[in-house]
Amino acid sequence: MSRSAIVTGGASGIGLALAHELVRRGASVTVADIDGDGAERAAKRLSAEGAVSAARLDVTDAGAVAELYHRVAAENGGLDLVFNNAGIAVGGTTDELTLDHWNRAIDVNLRGVVHGVHAAYPIMVAQGRGRIVNTASLAGLVPAPLMAPYTATKHAVVGLSLALRAEAALRGVKVHVVCPGFVDTPLLRNANPDLPKTEIGEHAREAAIEVQRRLYDADALARDVMRGLARDRALIVAPASGRAAWRGVRLSPSAAARVASLAARRMLRPR
Ligand SMILES: NC(=O)c1ccc[n+]([C@@H]2O[C@H](COP(=O)([O-])OP(=O)(O)OC[C@H]3O[C@@H](n4cnc5c(N)ncnc54)[C@H](O)[C@@H]3O)[C@@H](O)[C@H]2O)c1
Repeated sequence: MSRSAIVTGGASGIGLALAHELVRRGASVTVADIDGDGAERAAKRLSAEGAVSAARLDVTDAGAVAELYHRVAAENGGLDLVFNNAGIAVGGTTDELTLDHWNRAIDVNLRGVVHGVHAAYPIMVAQGRGRIVNTASLAGLVPAPLMAPYTATKHAVVGLSLALRAEAALRGVKVHVVCPGFVDTPLLRNANPDLPKTEIGEHAREAAIEVQRRLYDADALARDVMRGLARDRALIVAPASGRAAWRGVRLSPSAAARVASLAARRMLRPR
């Protein structure tokens, strides 16, 4: 296992599960989150098993991201593994979404990852080694209606990551992108944070269960991610139902859009 790691959005859900797996595997982990108290709590909990520190970090603040990543590299003699994982759920029918919904999704889910890459990649190029792991979503590979801003940002993260992977291979740096289906985390209960409410956003977890009967477990995903890294997978798509949906899109984008439209109708039906 690599030595020093940063996980953004590490106070909760997928980030917390990733941080836990990394600690178990002997990495020295910085849990970074806009929820500074949550990051402290996570670090305290995980420190029973290894070296963990906490940092309050807003990934929309490029300067703060660069400062943290450089500090962690300096304190650990390098930066081996970065998980640009922080993200928010933004959902609603596209006609009801405000530009604030679009801008927040872009700021956190896309710019947050851009800031992480912009900070970590030059450090890793200078080292001649390192791994960048960006959390996108299955919504970055398949049409995910009723959350167009989220879907757009996650497609962008997939594109960014695959382009960077091809280029970074020339510099000794590995890049991976994680594309999970719906995972059982607080994200699904907190859609549109600090944004105008939408009907689907208020019922995001129920809507997720409507299309993916069993939500994926964050700890299982974290183990799948570690397996994907060990196998040097460009795209880590999980669970199996997600890989099937992605295959469907590649076989017939038009048919996949029709299936997604039927799913949207079920998600919107009156409860
Ligand atoms: N839960 C799912 O169904 C699902 C599916 C696919 C992809 N994802 C992606 O996985 C990632 C993690 O989501 P999760 O499900 O664990 O959600 P979560 O809400 O449990 O955790 C997200 C964490 O990110 C933090 N965060 C939010 N905005 C931030 C910011 N500006 N700066 C720093 N930290 C910030 C939150 O405080 C929280 O601790 C996200 O990128 C999400 O889009 C989630």
